[in-house]
Amino acid sequence: MADLATTFCGLKVKSPVGVTSCDFGGHARLARRVAEQGIGWLVGKTVHRIDGPHRWPRPHFYSLRRFGPELRDAFVSSQMFHHLPYDRWLAEELPATLEVCREHGVLFIGSCCGIGEDPETWIPFLRDMAAAGVEAIELDTGGPHATFGAVAAHHAVGAPLALDPETAYRVTLECAKAVDVPIIFKMTPQCVNMAEVSLAVERAGAAAISANNAFYGLWIDHETGTFLGVPAAMGGLMGRPWQVYSLAKLLEITATVQLPVIGGGGVFTYDDVVRHLMGGCSLVGMCSAVYARGVEVLGKVDRELRSWLDQKGHASLAAVQGTVVQDLRYLREWPRETEMADESPLLPVIDVSRCTECGRCARLCPYGALEMTGRPGEAPALETEHCCGCGWCTGQCPVGAITMVHAASGRMVWDGRGTIADWVGWE
Ligand SMILES: Cc1cc2nc3c(=O)[nH]c(=O)nc-3n(C[C@H](O)[C@H](O)[C@H](O)COP(=O)(O)O)c2cc1C
Repeated sequence: MADLATTFCGLKVKSPVGVTSCDFGGHARLARRVAEQGIGWLVGKTVHRIDGPHRWPRPHFYSLRRFGPELRDAFVSSQMFHHLPYDRWLAEELPATLEVCREHGVLFIGSCCGIGEDPETWIPFLRDMAAAGVEAIELDTGGPHATFGAVAAHHAVGAPLALDPETAYRVTLECAKAVDVPIIFKMTPQCVNMAEVSLAVERAGAAAISANNAFYGLWIDHETGTFLGVPAAMGGLMGRPWQVYSLAKLLEITATVQLPVIGGGGVFTYDDVVRHLMGGCSLVGMCSAVYARGVEVLGKVDRELRSWLDQKGHASLAAVQGTVVQDLRYLREWPRETEMADESPLLPVIDVSRCTECGRCARLCPYGALEMTGRPGEAPALETEHCCGCGWCTGQCPVGAITMVHAASGRMVWDGRGTIADWVGWE
């Protein structure tokens, strides 16, 4: 069976799959529940001393499940940092959580948040955690709650720190100098210049980057004509589709710096984990999946990841880690015609033996180029002068009967899987 063991900042980890900062790392009782599922690592719930223990609004999790099947895993959350007083967490929950992690061979990563660039608001946590035996510490510099309308004490907390490369540099520099434990900088997905922030924290001595914290979000209940939950902007968790975005943000980092990265954002299944590994993550985190689908989702991912690696004949993670990073390029650099031909050089070819005549391609063709003939046994008719060669029919066909073909050469360009062939210049 495939070996999931890996290393992160020089530390041995039994699996790349873990749980990012949230309740499950905040209490030993909850840590045990996720540790028993076979995870390799667990980040503590962020601790702080900003304005006394956080009093979260209750209720604080607002599920969007009833707003449509595509939102079944999505929610907004007005929960903030750890609600326990810091000293109590340090004296009781931290040692107990470390004990649970030791018992299960799980790497525990601490998480803390200070205020702005003031080192005195960060360093005491780092020293306390290091003294307690925490082996790596994440700076929660990406939290969404402080982005808009935060109370005065929060305005330099969370996401604002990860949006500005200079601020990110100064916070990381002080923290990395203060302790002999790897310091991990946590990004916000709201950052538009991820590459610059990554370079800044690399320069400052961060040992790794964690990408990403939650989005910023709110929801409106159209039936009641009010906001859902708290009438405020807060943490928005978008479920599995968020992964499209988190992968793009991940690659901005992994294609730029050499630092190890904890990736995540919408990871729900084993193949989501594989995608993040291929995108250059050392570790892949799950968080809202555990809330939306239960702790068992972690054990399932562990089993399915091993069996997928076995099926592919991969003995270890090395076969998939970072495999696509070098292929990333700017879209503007992708080869294309100097001028787009009026009639598309690429046309869909429909395999009649597979076509079920469901009509989906004709209904969805955005250019109106496909039409059902109404005669049984016939593939949809193509009006080549309207076809734009877009490939939508290829991706939408439920039975994979449509391929995009280079008309002049007859060579296949795309069957809906993997990267399109670089066909420009084909005769
Ligand atoms: C209930 C909840 C609490 C969270 N608390 C924290 C926190 O205290 N500190 C932090 O850095 N991230 C926190 N996060 C963000 C997650 O660690 C993670 O970065 C984010 O949710 C994206 O991953 P996901 O799509 O797997 O949920 C929290 C997320 C959730 C859902």
